[in-house]
Amino acid sequence: MNDTRQQILEILSGHMSAIMARSVLSLSLSWSKVDPNKLLSGDDKRLLAELEKGIRLYVPDDTLRQKCMEQMQSLLTLNGQTHPPPAAEPQIRVPVLTESDIVDARGIGRLVCGKLGFSGAIQIKVATAISEMARNIVQYAGKGEITITTLDGDRRGIEVVARDKGPGIADISLVMSDRYHSRTGMGIGLKGTRNLMDEFDLESSPGNGTEIRVRKYMDP
Ligand SMILES: Nc1ncnc2c1ncn2[C@@H]1O[C@H](COP(=O)(O)OP(=O)(O)OP(=O)(O)O)[C@@H](O)[C@H]1O
Ligand SMILES: [Mg+2]
Repeated sequence: MNDTRQQILEILSGHMSAIMARSVLSLSLSWSKVDPNKLLSGDDKRLLAELEKGIRLYVPDDTLRQKCMEQMQSLLTLNGQTHPPPAAEPQIRVPVLTESDIVDARGIGRLVCGKLGFSGAIQIKVATAISEMARNIVQYAGKGEITITTLDGDRRGIEVVARDKGPGIADISLVMSDRYHSRTGMGIGLKGTRNLMDEFDLESSPGNGTEIRVRKYMDP
């Protein structure tokens, strides 16, 4: 990682969790179309503008936010350089082990949805689906990960994949049915997630862990 990225990360990490700081940086780089490899001595109003959006979301305190932005501005000397567009779609991987990881995954999903232009109501739906999948990982598998990808092709939208190598689900059709009675919760997390999203794909079997892939499109 080059120096400027490291310095941006250090500033952000002073104000938010490490994974949130990395996510805000990588999304800002991607959205501002700044090539991370060319980010050396400086630069770019677009990157600063994207960073500011993340900072506004995650540093609610006015004084702290202003301080964070001042640090960022003095780091990024505005020299108006232009850059080629980034090659890859932005993808964020959040390891999920604890309650605060659930909050982070949820927040990053919301940030990506906001950037894509989803309405507030849909942002909350996607964030809720992410919470349910992440909570199941913590509750039943102990650890796993959530990957959030911006779909930027023919159909714009967001894809979320929740993966773990936990005990798996023996009877998928049972847990997805109305006759399922959970011993640990309400038994509606997965059904709710399916209803909240446009696509829902669940693969799981005992011994092989669980993978859930969901998508929400801008034009369903
Ligand atoms: N990642 C997972 N690994 C193993 N089993 C899982 C996983 N996710 C869900 N399950 C199983 O599937 C069932 C249904 O999950 P679901 O989230 O729908 O309901 P719940 O977690 O029991 O209750 P809640 O409504 O509070 O979410 C769970 O009770 C659990 O047995
Ligand atoms: Mg659940």
